[in-house]
Amino acid sequence: MGMYGLKSMLKVPTQVVFGDNTIEELGSHAKKFGKRVLLIYGGNSIFKSGNYDRVTETLRREGLEIKEYGGITHDPDEDLVQRAVENALSANPDVIVGIGGGSVIDIAKAVSVMATNGGTVSDYWGGREFTRPSIPMIAIPTTSGTGAEVTKNAVISNKEKTFKKSIRTDYMTPEIAIIDPTLTLTVPPEVTIDTGLDALIQNLEAFTSKNAGPITDTLAIKGIELGAKYLPIAVENPDNLEAREALSLGSLFGGITLGNAGLGLAHGLSHPIGIKYGIPHGRACAIVMPKVIEYNYPARKEKYDKIAGLFGEECDAVSGFRKFLDKLGVSYRLRDYGVKKEDFPMIIEYSKGGSRNFNPIPHSDETVYKMLEEMY
Ligand SMILES: [Fe+2]
Repeated sequence: MGMYGLKSMLKVPTQVVFGDNTIEELGSHAKKFGKRVLLIYGGNSIFKSGNYDRVTETLRREGLEIKEYGGITHDPDEDLVQRAVENALSANPDVIVGIGGGSVIDIAKAVSVMATNGGTVSDYWGGREFTRPSIPMIAIPTTSGTGAEVTKNAVISNKEKTFKKSIRTDYMTPEIAIIDPTLTLTVPPEVTIDTGLDALIQNLEAFTSKNAGPITDTLAIKGIELGAKYLPIAVENPDNLEAREALSLGSLFGGITLGNAGLGLAHGLSHPIGIKYGIPHGRACAIVMPKVIEYNYPARKEKYDKIAGLFGEECDAVSGFRKFLDKLGVSYRLRDYGVKKEDFPMIIEYSKGGSRNFNPIPHSDETVYKMLEEMY
């Protein structure tokens, strides 16, 4: 079948610590880098969930000094990065600990490398290169979604919130990722859906990407299987630990596979749609994904047929994925999210570059326009 004629690479520079209650080990990992810890986190959920106490306890137990920078919001913009970098420069930490969802981890990554390299996010969007190693960073995801704990990019919005774009460098990959599924037990169903769909779609896009190969495929198939089986269970029963473990693992696999194989058209389109209409990233990916599978199907027939059955129906991957979204109550009609047809040219323009380059079939502006109309 020709699969093993393909080249396949795997780079996971992050030391991954996976398992229930591994958060207790944070202090002993952090102290390897020094005494001063800068803790970066998001909104109130870290206090309500008890995760804040769990994190600070293990750091204090090891005698570490903690400084904090909280309140990181969704879709962080370049100004927020700048403020966080200034804070980090005055805190002068030996290690940065980022605990939260993808946005928080991305900010912690951006801060860790911009604090040592200087400049602004715009400079790096414009082609400036990172030349110095970052402040060591430990990433602790509290959702099962982006896999940002093992990737080398950070997605940042511009000031006007008209576009999102990555900055990337190997220096940004976290030194250590502590993936503790018990931290995700309090994630509410809607957020579980949005983040779980991101992980699932990252595995799907990496599985069919132009750069896919046997190593990443093995992880991606498992990630798709775990997401398809356990996402509905975790939505139904948020405190089902087995489901949370499975989703945490699937999310990790998504981060590893996207970092090594790339993504595709769904991720490309998700950024302008997400930022313009305030739609969570994973949901924005899910809205466009059925059409993208349909478009890519002829080029990856064998692969899609192989995973079609994982969505719980005896049918092809396109219908299987649509039915899966139906069951989760997720619409894949652009109009249900207030998307305007007159924004299609903007969506197409800002979706260019990055992920779209790895899509298995090339696509002109006209083709994408037609696809958007069909999703409307
Ligand atoms: Fe994603």
